[in-house]
Amino acid sequence: MSIDKYKWWQKTIVYQIYPRSFKDSTGNGIGDLRGIIEKLDYLKELGVESIWFSPFFTSPQQDHGYDVANFREIDPLYGTMEDFDKILKEIHDKKMKIVLDLVLNHTSIKHPWFIESASSKDNSKRDWYVWRDGKKPGGKKPPNNWKAIPGGPAWIYYENTDQWFYFHFLPFQPDLNYRNPEVKEEMLNTMRFWLDKGVDGFRLDILHSIFEDKLLRNNPFSWALTLSDKKPACYFQYHKYDLNLPETLDFTIELRNLMEEYEPDRFLVGEIFVSIENVRKYYGPNNNGLHMVFLFEFTSTPFKSKKYRKVISRIEKALPFPFTPTFVYSNHDRVRHISLLKDNVKKAKILATMQLTLRGVPFIYYGEEIGMGNVKFKLKTSEDPIGRKFSKFPFPQIVRLLGFSLTRDSCRTPMQWNADSNAGFTPNPEVKTWLKISDNYKKVNVSRGEKNPNSLLNCYKRLIEVRRENISLQEGLFHIIDLGKLNKKCLAYKRIHEKQEIFVYLNFINKDILLENPIQKPDLIFSTLSNRKALDPNAYDGNIKLTPFEGVIFK
Ligand code: GLC
Repeated sequence: MSIDKYKWWQKTIVYQIYPRSFKDSTGNGIGDLRGIIEKLDYLKELGVESIWFSPFFTSPQQDHGYDVANFREIDPLYGTMEDFDKILKEIHDKKMKIVLDLVLNHTSIKHPWFIESASSKDNSKRDWYVWRDGKKPGGKKPPNNWKAIPGGPAWIYYENTDQWFYFHFLPFQPDLNYRNPEVKEEMLNTMRFWLDKGVDGFRLDILHSIFEDKLLRNNPFSWALTLSDKKPACYFQYHKYDLNLPETLDFTIELRNLMEEYEPDRFLVGEIFVSIENVRKYYGPNNNGLHMVFLFEFTSTPFKSKKYRKVISRIEKALPFPFTPTFVYSNHDRVRHISLLKDNVKKAKILATMQLTLRGVPFIYYGEEIGMGNVKFKLKTSEDPIGRKFSKFPFPQIVRLLGFSLTRDSCRTPMQWNADSNAGFTPNPEVKTWLKISDNYKKVNVSRGEKNPNSLLNCYKRLIEVRRENISLQEGLFHIIDLGKLNKKCLAYKRIHEKQEIFVYLNFINKDILLENPIQKPDLIFSTLSNRKALDPNAYDGNIKLTPFEGVIFK
């Protein structure tokens, strides 16, 4: 499928909302759809176009919505189908797009399909999940050595039928069996159900684990302890037979074909743990698979110009135009990146400038634009089941030392709207919010950010505007600029569209730097410093001066 003209989704900006934490309208301390409706003007003003909602479908909430019990209903905790229809209409009226989060891989253990499936071996839904006999003799050991991603065996024994079921993630999330055509059909119809309503795209949860080896062969050994984005291996196991199967790749083409039935264009973005070099296969042999895949490399790239330069070059090599890369710093599973930057707002502005000027689609996690950071939580009482699991882990410090947050509660705290009690997240100032609000909410909040011209929030707004006003930043080709010895300090590149060339220079160090000026009369269109009005090469022997951690865009 050749793309000769840029499609809207190739240059969109996506904003991720975690519905529990964005805005509570009822006063129960949990965010909901009506709350989100109240804040759509904020998002419009910020300038983002596509809004991705983490799941709000019916769910026992054991994994806060990633354990679905009905894929075509709204969980009453978040509202009703009427609320959804309203949100969809309002988003479209504002010329924005709506992206749903679809968990194709598994259901909740409380999904009626699973309850039926588990009831007996001859139930019509038995084969909707992956049931197997245990290892012989006796069958009291799991069918193979597969481990779940958060650790421990990936199988649970059910005495009533003397068989085991397979789960890739958590024990209450049994994997659906995509080798059964009924399952596939049902899930494709679920997608149609939402597409017919008018949704503009789907984020596909852990798509790499849709299919597993038919023969259920044992996974080989690996030295990897914790999961990384470089290799699908962890807890000393290489996930050869349960991840990234050829059948899963074929499935992406089926998914794409379904999306192509709809006008105007819709898109798919897949959550997949693969290296940059291996990601291309998910885009399909002729760019006819997923429209986009999350590239998570930025979530762990140290704040060094040379490191980013290298990652960006690898991305450009692996996914040249018309493939569309994505740029992610944080999400509801990962450490908020400003915490990795030790709350350094200047550094966060550099990364924001980069994210919004590279060739591809930026994904902004709610609160990232105001500098919300990770918050500490006790593991034992963690809302996140992963946190509770780690509280039993013998050496949690080791995992922490490796830079992982042990409970995802830390990055999911309520949005900080203002300095009122409960940060304006809920109309009820007395209520205990589902996760505590960060202590820094009086300093870090939307209302404060809006009033300060030099805030991170206003930096995002200006960047988004500059991107919108300059076609090169949306559709331009990308060229890295070699600064020789200065590559260690500064990252520079240009975006070119027909005759328009736009330059981006990012100073990664805490000192002034002077750089050779690439054009005659640079016209400054953006600086991370809100009061900087021009680049003045005449004052510096024809060079450009960047102040510590300053990023500029000029043409
Ligand atoms: C994905 C989601 C995560 C969820 C898991 C299981 O990684 O992002 O939040 O717990 O899949 O669905």
